[in-house]
Amino acid sequence: MSKRKIIFDTDPGIDDAVALLTLLNYEPFEVLGITSVAGNKGITHTTDNASKLIKYSQKDIKVYQGAHSSYLRVKGGLPAEGRDGGNVHGVDGLGGVGLPVDPNNISSISAIDFILDSVRTYPGEIEIISVGPMTNLALAIDQDEATMRKVKKVWSMGGGVFRGNVTPVAEFNYWFDTVSVEKVYSLGNDVDIVMVGLDATHQCIFDANDLAFIRLAAGEKGELIYAMVQDYLSAYWKFNKYIGIVIHDLLPVLMAIDPTVCSRLVHSNLRIVHEGLTKGQCIVDLVDSWKLNKNAYVVMDMDVRKCKELFMEVCFNQKVKETYQSVFPTL
Ligand code: BDR
Ligand code: CA
Repeated sequence: MSKRKIIFDTDPGIDDAVALLTLLNYEPFEVLGITSVAGNKGITHTTDNASKLIKYSQKDIKVYQGAHSSYLRVKGGLPAEGRDGGNVHGVDGLGGVGLPVDPNNISSISAIDFILDSVRTYPGEIEIISVGPMTNLALAIDQDEATMRKVKKVWSMGGGVFRGNVTPVAEFNYWFDTVSVEKVYSLGNDVDIVMVGLDATHQCIFDANDLAFIRLAAGEKGELIYAMVQDYLSAYWKFNKYIGIVIHDLLPVLMAIDPTVCSRLVHSNLRIVHEGLTKGQCIVDLVDSWKLNKNAYVVMDMDVRKCKELFMEVCFNQKVKETYQSVFPTL
């Protein structure tokens, strides 16, 4: 049987990095390529960070550079959005761990061309895991919507039904580029679009014990991840008073690997607010009051223990998972 064909669209970002390290270690997937987008950092940083993670994972795949800004800025010919100071993802977007870039794995083909070429080559087969602003996907839709309707599935980290993180009602990826979100969900009659938003991701907190376990029991990659998440951990303490982290972008990867990590999925109509106080808010018609087309599969609940065990197994190995089970037994 042929492997499932995956494109990972990302703005690394610490949680993007953990997600990618997990994805690249999952043999049953064929990761055709990684497409970068501006978001957590500017496009040069996010492209370089993807390159570093490919090199670290010793994979023969490429990163394809994508949009330098949100849709309206790209279309308006505005300069790149620069968010390259220190923030929750550290100065470089990877918590300052100092991995080397590999210029050989950065393609000269654009993310948009790569996505469209891949879907033309494998119509109905490509699954896109989107864990940054959806700008690349929207630009690809503008260029060739008929082809984008042949994407098999989009696994999207973004949005939320009952919570936000950049504002009380808006999540960062969707707030950053609401126009692109609307364009992508307009494909929802033909393409399965799964929204793994904040309602789901905030259920899965990797707490201080989990992180200590990763550092102590998961080898060199565990030590790297532990080092990488330290800025992120400080940010979660500062803003949420959690002693732990939410690795948002990991969740759609885990769900793509094993959909049963989701314990409640609602097929709904989803719309997004573009302007004003509630910019970036998702309106998800959970009770079908609008009777509009169901363009989104919205994840409402996760089986947290299953998520964590799957992560230990896929990102590291079976032995690490078994050690986790014995160190943290369930009743
Ligand atoms: C999302 O925003 C980014 O900061 C993270 O990488 C994640 O994709 C969470 O809101
Ligand atoms: Ca991200």
